[in-house]
Amino acid sequence: MPPPKCLSWMFISLFFLLLIAMISGCSTLKDSRPILPIKEYEKMIVGRFDADYVGTANCLAACHEHDRLRQDFDASTMGAQLKKESGLPLVDCESCHGPGSLAIKGLTRELVEENTKKGIKTKCDFETLIDMKNLPAPAQSLTCLKCHTANATFNLHNWNASTHATNEVSCFDCHQVHGSPDLKVSPINTGQMCFRCHLAPRAEFSMPSHHPLNEKRIFCIDCHDTHGGIGDRHLRKETIKETCVQCHPEKRGPFVYEHADVLEDCLNCHVPHGSVNDNLLVAREPFLCLQCHEGHRINTPGGGSTSAASRRAFYSRCTDCHSRIHGSDVPSASGKGRFTQ
Ligand code: HEC
Ligand code: HEC
Ligand code: HEC
Ligand code: HEC
Ligand code: HEC
Ligand code: HEC
Ligand code: HEC
Ligand code: HEC
Ligand code: HEC
Repeated sequence: MPPPKCLSWMFISLFFLLLIAMISGCSTLKDSRPILPIKEYEKMIVGRFDADYVGTANCLAACHEHDRLRQDFDASTMGAQLKKESGLPLVDCESCHGPGSLAIKGLTRELVEENTKKGIKTKCDFETLIDMKNLPAPAQSLTCLKCHTANATFNLHNWNASTHATNEVSCFDCHQVHGSPDLKVSPINTGQMCFRCHLAPRAEFSMPSHHPLNEKRIFCIDCHDTHGGIGDRHLRKETIKETCVQCHPEKRGPFVYEHADVLEDCLNCHVPHGSVNDNLLVAREPFLCLQCHEGHRINTPGGGSTSAASRRAFYSRCTDCHSRIHGSDVPSASGKGRFTQ
């Protein structure tokens, strides 16, 4: 019936017109103006609106307690931003701790010196600053993300969707801003840092067959991106196979004789961290192979011999004969791909 068809075309074109109107209207949203300046948010977090920014010089001049913090901070990449001539966004104490005028109210250099002579430590009223340690995890992370946006810091592209972000893990859990001048986490420290929360991997890496993590030849972050990966399980690579063949390239293939598509997922036969079985295998041979194959029966092409000894042998280590289990370019005796050479 023509009339309804005509009507639906009208609706469709109307829809597209509306869509175009909406998209062009949205362009103003692109120049992202904050609804409130960050300052106002920080005041809200503190719960007071009368605080103001005083600048790092004022914070630190009043109080010598933080000398080490300052030294570390100056030496760090973020601290380098304190130098105005760098032209980069300024990072100072108040960028994270919030406006500090209330904290240093009444504190003068003279007072601090007087107190020091008397042997008294001068405390600032730090309770008027943002209570970093007790903020909810997402708010803690926002402290960092206001500068480290996905655009500014590429490796945080997947953070918001990451299992860490959605499980209340915050930047503070891993990055100790005042731990040392090095804000980065060096690979060698990741094991212990991750084990703090991940007890299963800790046990796995102590099993008889394991990737040499405790031996410091491989690191969690070789395979995982703690900020969220492109693959499942925070993996840096899209697939399991890609994850593994970066270091085991000889298993990549393609081979003339492939083990069907079994090799597409190395975890069909291996575990990634550690195993009680040799070679990180999920199960010992022959059980590993018997999950998918029957063993040789007598008089099958593989089972030429009828002696009891060889029958037993066939149910021992299949890879004694099928030694090219990851794929081969060389045919077997019968001219087929049996991975025997
Ligand atoms: C990049 C953000 C950031 C900057 C910049 C920063 N801090 Fe901190 N600061 C933190 C965090 C996060 C904590 C809480 C650490 C924790 O969880 O123990 C903290 C804690 C502190 C503490 C308490 C330490 C303790 O042991 O409880 C002091 C004091 C401090 N900062 C002073 C400063 C001073 C002074 C500056 C400027 C030189 C500064 N901070 C700059 C993020 C920052
Ligand atoms: C006021 C803006 C600002 C805030 C807030 C901020 N950063 Fe930074 N951060 C920077 C800048 C700028 C750099 C240096 C340039 C760069 O490496 O991106 C930097 C560098 C770093 C680096 C070192 C990168 C490298 O390659 O060495 C780490 C790690 C880091 N920040 C973590 C954090 C964490 C964790 C927080 C929250 C506690 C935080 N930052 C909060 C601006 C900020
Ligand atoms: C589970 C631990 C963990 C958490 C949570 C975490 N990081 Fe990291 N971060 C690391 C490790 C480990 C490295 C060093 C290896 C790497 O780059 O992946 C690192 C590196 C970085 C770097 C340096 C990147 C570079 O390539 O120079 C920045 C910047 C950074 N993290 C910021 C953040 C911010 C901001 C957050 C919170 C949104 C955060 N991290 C949360 C562990 C963590
Ligand atoms: C050789 C690469 C590799 C290294 C190194 C590695 N992992 Fe993994 N990890 C994987 C793979 C692959 C998976 C996915 C397993 C799956 O999907 O069943 C995984 C899964 C996980 C999981 C989720 C599943 C589970 O077992 O609970 C956690 C948590 C984990 N890894 C933590 C760690 C930690 C912590 C370290 C360092 C101490 C580490 N991994 C080192 C490859 C690795
Ligand atoms: C403060 C605690 C904490 C720290 C530190 C931590 N994690 Fe996690 N991680 C978690 C929680 C919570 C989860 C989600 C629940 C789970 O799977 O156990 C998780 C999940 C994971 C997963 C599974 C992701 C998925 O999609 O299933 C991987 C992989 C992982 N973490 C790797 C690491 C690595 C590598 C490090 C060290 C750089 C690390 N974690 C440090 C708390 C932590
Ligand atoms: C960052 C490099 C790296 C990645 C990624 C990696 N491996 Fe390894 N793998 C190693 C190193 C190093 C060894 C130890 C080799 C040695 O001892 O000579 C090893 C050893 C092994 C072994 C032999 C273990 C034994 O007990 O002898 C197997 C099996 C293995 N890897 C499988 C995998 C699988 C499966 C993956 C993917 C989940 C993977 N590897 C990813 C570096 C890597
Ligand atoms: C069909 C089961 C199976 C699959 C799938 C499989 N492997 Fe293996 N792999 C084995 C067996 C069995 C051994 C031990 C016997 C041997 O060396 O042939 C082994 C040993 C290894 C070894 C240590 C010895 C050597 O040859 O270097 C590495 C490394 C390895 N595999 C990597 C991988 C990688 C990477 C993948 C994925 C691309 C993978 N494996 C997929 C069965 C498998
Ligand atoms: C996850 C299942 C799976 C596991 C585990 C597995 N295979 Fe296979 N295998 C297959 C599939 C699927 C094929 C291709 C289909 C076929 O020809 O039967 C195959 C093919 C083969 C072939 C070649 C058959 C032919 O017709 O050319 C041999 C030989 C073989 N596998 C031996 C092994 C051995 C030895 C093991 C143990 C180390 C093993 N397989 C583990 C699934 C598996
Ligand atoms: C003593 C050496 C030897 C052992 C041990 C052995 N095989 Fe074989 N297998 C062979 C030979 C030889 C062939 C035939 C090769 C040809 O066709 O050229 C074969 C063929 C096969 C085939 C393809 C033909 C068929 O029968 O369907 C599969 C699948 C296979 N073996 C699986 C296994 C499994 C699983 C194990 C361990 C339980 C195992 N093999 C142990 C020597 C062996």
